[in-house]
Amino acid sequence: MSDKNPFPGENNTGHIWDDNLRELANPPPRWWMIAFWASIIWFFGYGVIYPMYPALPGSTGFTKGVAGWTQIKEYEEGLAELQAVRGEFEQKISSMSAADILKDEGLSDYTVASAKVLFGDNCAACHGSGGQGGPGYPVLADDNWLYGGDVNIIVQSITSGRKGMMPPKGGAELSEAEIDTLAKAIAEGKPASTPLFLEKGCIGCHGVGGKGMQALGAVNLTDQIMRFVPVNGQTPLDSIKQTITHGVNFPGDPKTREAEMPEFGKRLSADDIKKLAVYVVKFGGGQ
Ligand code: HEC
Ligand code: HEC
Repeated sequence: MSDKNPFPGENNTGHIWDDNLRELANPPPRWWMIAFWASIIWFFGYGVIYPMYPALPGSTGFTKGVAGWTQIKEYEEGLAELQAVRGEFEQKISSMSAADILKDEGLSDYTVASAKVLFGDNCAACHGSGGQGGPGYPVLADDNWLYGGDVNIIVQSITSGRKGMMPPKGGAELSEAEIDTLAKAIAEGKPASTPLFLEKGCIGCHGVGGKGMQALGAVNLTDQIMRFVPVNGQTPLDSIKQTITHGVNFPGDPKTREAEMPEFGKRLSADDIKKLAVYVVKFGGGQ
């Protein structure tokens, strides 16, 4: 480095290496400086209008921008908007019957969306999240009903609960061979093909032709759809025999099938029950 600037007239700092490598003192380009100052002005302007800095706590609250904008206010406004929309739907649901809700497409779409959680919380443990049922728990997604698929009947099933009763027919009433005959006839979907069906009083609940009686929850025995499915490696025939031998919900028979739909009338509001009934129909089975 020499004392004398070997490049006079040039805007350099006088720092020179390797004879000709020098440090210049040129200002940054004009466009760059404009953007630089503009961003600083923007910073202060924005800070005055919105509380851009972390809001500072004061004795009467916290610092706010002149626009009065806060995140919490924006959130509350959004929520109020949503509640206004929901409120309108909820009010309609309150004043309409489940059957009328079903007829209103927009409203039933809303109902299905809002009942999903209700169903998950209250019903799915027994009936499955899609209403597919399970051993002892009836399918809600098909068109095969114990008590009926009309939405008003479904409301009733949910409100008051259900507990179908069939007395055990094993032991004194029916011999093994008779149970076998009845079970085979039912497995074939032709319960009335054996005279036993009439003679042993099955028609009292399941009807003369065996098509069932929904008022009693006595299932249709002619459709080959079994409401109690075989478990623990049972054959379908064994499962039918078990029902005939030990009955359903019969107090005093320790092997009776237990099948109780709990009562929800005291646990859920009437509106929630309507929503659930619509939800169940929308699984595809009811009407
Ligand atoms: C503890 C298990 C359990 C829970 C929880 C439960 N159910 Fe049930 N549900 C049953 C059983 C068992 C039956 C069949 C009753 C019978 O056989 O008499 C039934 C029957 C029904 C029926 C009548 C079906 C038909 O074929 O007629 C409907 C509808 C129904 N449940 C809907 C619901 C809804 C909706 C919920 C939630 C609010 C719910 N259930 C919660 C066990 C349950
Ligand atoms: C007092 C009424 C009553 C009488 C009598 C009766 N049942 Fe039932 N039965 C029912 C009810 C109710 C159910 C359904 C119970 C439930 O799902 O909660 C049922 C269910 C059944 C089932 C189960 C069907 C399935 O889908 O899994 C079979 C099988 C059956 N009954 C056969 C018979 C036979 C055979 C007789 C005559 C020997 C008979 N029942 C007499 C009321 C009766």
